Amino acid sequence: MSNRVSVYRREHFNAAHRLYNPSWSDEKNTAVFGKCNNHNYHGHNYDLEVKVTGTIDPETGYVMDLKVLSDLINEYVLDILDHKNLNLDIAYFKTVNPTAENICVFIYDILRKKIEENYDLQIRLYETERNYVEYPC
Ligand code: NI
Repeated sequence: MSNRVSVYRREHFNAAHRLYNPSWSDEKNTAVFGKCNNHNYHGHNYDLEVKVTGTIDPETGYVMDLKVLSDLINEYVLDILDHKNLNLDIAYFKTVNPTAENICVFIYDILRKKIEENYDLQIRLYETERNYVEYPC
């Protein structure tokens, strides 16, 4: 029997964004992104789910201490993104459209560097209750 188990930590942040492609006309941006292209931005309450898969440590019985995972997410993701305007405040999103897909990859790339290689990592990001993305898949 495998002793690999996935553990999850859910966190929350809110942020504003505007979806648009600067090389397109206003008309095309509105046609593609609709309300999400609102020039004065709009906000979302994002739910973030971080999944870490690894083997159970026989000494602790943990795959990973979820307090440690929570601290990593808070320090390296939430402190960066929470209550921010993603387009204006985050350098990465000056050239990358801050869609849920791109935010999810952004978060993965940050956390991948902070979590040891022997763990698998997957990020799920809910932009609304019904719309969510997952990376890697
Ligand atoms: Ni939006």
